[in-house]
Amino acid sequence: MRNQKLGLVFLLFVAFAIPAWAQTAVDGEGHPWWQHAVFYEIYPRSFADSNHDGIGDLPGITSKLDYLSWLGVDAIWIAPMFPSPHVDWGYDISDYYSVDPDYGTLRDMDELLAQSKPRNIRVLLDFVMTYTSDQNKWFQESKSSRANPKRDWYIWRDARDPQQPPNNWTSLFGGSAWKYDSTTSQWFYHYFYPPQPNLNWRNPEVEKNMFDVTRWWYKRGVAGFRLDAVDVMFVDSQFRDNPVVGTERNAFGDPVEREINDKNQPELHGVLQRLRKVADEHNAVLIGETWTSDIEQLKKYYGEHNDEVNMPMDFMFATINKLSPADFRKQIEWVDNSGGWPVYVVSNHDIRRVYDRYGDGKHDDQIAKLMASLYLTLRGTAVMYYGEEIGMENNDPKRPEDVKDSMGKLGWPKEKGRDGERTPMQWNTQANAGFSPTTPWLPVDDRYKNYNVETEKSDPNSILNYYRQLLSMRHTNQALLEGKYIALNEDDPSVLSYARSYKGQSVLVVLNMSGVTRKVNLNLESKGVHAKGAKTLLSSFTTPGRVDPSEISVEPFGAWIGETE
Ligand code: BGC
Repeated sequence: MRNQKLGLVFLLFVAFAIPAWAQTAVDGEGHPWWQHAVFYEIYPRSFADSNHDGIGDLPGITSKLDYLSWLGVDAIWIAPMFPSPHVDWGYDISDYYSVDPDYGTLRDMDELLAQSKPRNIRVLLDFVMTYTSDQNKWFQESKSSRANPKRDWYIWRDARDPQQPPNNWTSLFGGSAWKYDSTTSQWFYHYFYPPQPNLNWRNPEVEKNMFDVTRWWYKRGVAGFRLDAVDVMFVDSQFRDNPVVGTERNAFGDPVEREINDKNQPELHGVLQRLRKVADEHNAVLIGETWTSDIEQLKKYYGEHNDEVNMPMDFMFATINKLSPADFRKQIEWVDNSGGWPVYVVSNHDIRRVYDRYGDGKHDDQIAKLMASLYLTLRGTAVMYYGEEIGMENNDPKRPEDVKDSMGKLGWPKEKGRDGERTPMQWNTQANAGFSPTTPWLPVDDRYKNYNVETEKSDPNSILNYYRQLLSMRHTNQALLEGKYIALNEDDPSVLSYARSYKGQSVLVVLNMSGVTRKVNLNLESKGVHAKGAKTLLSSFTTPGRVDPSEISVEPFGAWIGETE
């Protein structure tokens, strides 16, 4: 009784003494909202076109909220929709406080936020914090004179030798990462395309201004940010050359460098900690575009006290480009034991679609369901990419003149760019897949007549309905929500199996990553999982309602998900 009273006093204290924005809500098991949420990335240019100009827009997204809610999505992350000259399709921001006219107005954004709320869908924006557009007024001021107060907001250097860039760093989009500017006879640094100059995060004014951007959007109702390109936020303060590896050249014809001086500098963690504090004050979440090459690097993004990026995306998992149980097992084991909350993603606007990377041309639909069954049943948060749920595949440009992505323009033919994974969402069988009555900015995939939301909604065996059932299970099954990950049959080279166990109940997942039917004995007792039998919850092939966990037959590339009895 006394405890109950104390509990009530505590709750009242939380409710009244701490302002609403500062209350980081957690559920009964101690999870903040984002840990059990399913996130969905929207590339705004390609999602839904409301004003029929061939370009997706914010009102288009608003018009599809009911669909997202039907699917089971809890939060959307919208790739940059800020004013931009679009040399990198929005990842070159000229004004952080507005909306690009291609996508609508601030009022449209407010409407989207207002309409999302009753549907329990949170809205996250893309925070391009490492660099701006060269059209941003900050850069315009910075480049105007060496004495300008914003000069130091960007990274300016003198030539190393006459007419030579300050060092050997190369841009991800090819060529030197330095561009000469004749106005002040100095070079500025750009890790990406030259019109994307990097900010100088060692300048406290930059930090203050960029943090204010997030505060402004939080107050408008945004629930968090995906932090773009955090690994290249700082460069070596002494501007030392990167070591060159071997004599090979990359797709752009540049020497291959070990990027030790232009990436992953220790100072970035201080910024992330401070940015996280601001996010926490608003019960918001930070997703990280955290490319890492090993688990130790990924761990650093969570922060020593889980006080940096809430959701650093695991791209090591996302880029296991073959159906290899051993590789997935190893990666899951690492991330699951990292001490941070795992974040799984299988594709996005920079990564070729799942359907292409794993498909064998014959079992592609099965494989799409297989991959969904994998990353949506793991312990952690899942970040989907629009169109994945209907089995969209890459539609790559065939001719250099059709390429829209600067990376593809510069790297053609070796590097065709990322247009292929950014094509319009396929809504129905009408012209342009119902995305727009006008010719869309990128061509719609020819397969849209069979792979679209409307058609798949009415087919109980579609990829879309499979995703929907998975998402629903994820939200309601306690073992899937809370269960610890237990690897099963760790030596099996063809089938990836695991349990998610919670309070004596286990969900069992069996994923056949091979092209032949496999019989599996899950050997549950050897892993301390007790079961008399199992019942099928969801399966990508015809399965009996009850199965014997010591003898489960799984079709080629089949996925079976069951529950212990
Ligand atoms: C975004 C890319 C973009 C790059 C440079 C990234 O991290 O995800 O789409 O091209 O930043 O702007």
